[in-house]
Amino acid sequence: MALDILLLYGSYRQGRMGIRLADYMAAGFEALGHKAMLIDAKAVGLPMLDLRYSDYAPGEAPAAMAALADRLSAADAFVFVAGEYNRGMQPGLKNLVDHYLKEFDRRPAAIASYSAGRFAGVNSHADWTVTLSAMGMAVVPERLSVGQIGQALNEAAEPQGDGGAALERGFAGFAGNLIWWAQAAKAAR
Ligand SMILES: Cc1cc2nc3c(=O)[nH]c(=O)nc-3n(C[C@H](O)[C@H](O)[C@H](O)COP(=O)(O)O)c2cc1C
Repeated sequence: MALDILLLYGSYRQGRMGIRLADYMAAGFEALGHKAMLIDAKAVGLPMLDLRYSDYAPGEAPAAMAALADRLSAADAFVFVAGEYNRGMQPGLKNLVDHYLKEFDRRPAAIASYSAGRFAGVNSHADWTVTLSAMGMAVVPERLSVGQIGQALNEAAEPQGDGGAALERGFAGFAGNLIWWAQAAKAAR
């Protein structure tokens, strides 16, 4: 059963690196026969949180916010592409997430983290686990953690070197775990 998987990414920085991991995983899920789509917070362009989507009267929310609500509600699973700023979450992704609630409910969520150095973004895992659980998602146990992202993936999001080889091995288990949970949740829904 093909799944509809969204990859959510929230860096707004010039020259951002995590987009490579998001693109790599989108291609990876597609190669496994699933539909995978990047939700790039910078491209969606939601404001710093003022009103949540649910605060608007029907038909009154900005078009981009309403379109994303529909897209989130239709998805079977979410992958949070999580960078690490000062050992915590990236604010752009958290800002996007906070605009919604029930649109995320009862779907599995996986955390794929990265960083420029060796921490591989793992310092953001605990915060994201708490937040995603609080919002009604089932956070799957398998994690993907990519250190030295600029060396593991080139500008075309192609794995390279030892880091790229480790990423490819890790992605296979990560994707398989998320797909299992997403199929189970889809059947339950
Ligand atoms: C504000 C800021 C804080 C950072 N803090 C950390 C950190 O705590 N741990 C870490 O491993 N890397 C840290 N870095 C380096 C990031 O891992 C690196 O810049 C990465 O490429 C950021 O993701 P992005 O390029 O997708 O924005 C930080 C970078 C920035 C800009």
